[in-house]
Amino acid sequence: MSQQPVSLPYLQQFSLSGKIALISGASRDIGLEIARAMAGCGAHVILNGRDATTLDAAAAEIRSMGGSVQSLAFDVTDTDAVKHAFATIAQQHGRLDILVNNAGVRNRKPLLEFSDAEIMAMLSTNLIASYTLSREAARLMLPQRSGRLITVTSIAGKVARAGDAVYTGAKAGLTGMMRALAAEYGPLGITSNAIAPGGVATAANAAAISDPKINAHFATRTPLGRWAQPQEIAGAAVFLAGSAASYVNGHVLYVDGGMSIAM
Ligand SMILES: NC(=O)c1ccc[n+]([C@@H]2O[C@H](COP(=O)([O-])OP(=O)(O)OC[C@H]3O[C@@H](n4cnc5c(N)ncnc54)[C@H](OP(=O)(O)O)[C@@H]3O)[C@@H](O)[C@H]2O)c1
Repeated sequence: MSQQPVSLPYLQQFSLSGKIALISGASRDIGLEIARAMAGCGAHVILNGRDATTLDAAAAEIRSMGGSVQSLAFDVTDTDAVKHAFATIAQQHGRLDILVNNAGVRNRKPLLEFSDAEIMAMLSTNLIASYTLSREAARLMLPQRSGRLITVTSIAGKVARAGDAVYTGAKAGLTGMMRALAAEYGPLGITSNAIAPGGVATAANAAAISDPKINAHFATRTPLGRWAQPQEIAGAAVFLAGSAASYVNGHVLYVDGGMSIAM
């Protein structure tokens, strides 16, 4: 007996065909995988990061797979550069449908070891930049009365570990920002949601993964018993960007192997 898929128009709800998506921190790992996945679902993806050469190589790879892509190098902590980037998007595309606030930096150490400058640098990239990017995205999305703001926060936005106060505070702040924007922009047609990954095998975790003690801790704390691959985060972003999530607003989607619910 041959099986035919049931044909229902709303099952096309993971298509991002014709959508314009900006993904910050898309030169590698989680951001790049989200960009690949969104391009694979039909979006035109705009890759952001600070290094133009790395971004161009990532864009070439997506293009070689048939994706529609461009790179836009700028530092998310440089507000003039951010405004210039959004002006470029407005000029080239006249719209923006999806913003993924993904760019982040890692600096794990006890609070007493942080200088003032290091605290500011962590908060600038991991928290404040998502405000400026979301604000500039909203300027384009509000006249459309549609748009998706997707913020990559972390399991650290919910549960805390000693020796990680600055990152933890930034990620908890992002969760608050995401919820406030969901309340503010929901009535205007724009949704705001977050993805909270657990431990993902990326460059930012290379040292932790090669440390047997930290590695064993993650395996014990995560019911699935392993680190995630970036591909396992990307599907959540596609879901939140598409019409499948049309009634999802103000939500934190934990993609953490169960870490947030386990003791
Ligand atoms: N990996 C995990 O286990 C994990 C868990 C929970 C949450 N997250 C979050 O997921 C996001 C991505 O993490 P990841 O592990 O994929 O990180 P990653 O491998 O270190 O990649 C970070 C990306 O952000 C870019 N970036 C950093 N600072 C930037 C800036 N000032 N302006 C523009 N781009 C900047 C980097 O490119 P350039 O350096 O070339 O600029 C890179 O593309 C982060 O927000 C992170 O906090 C990760």
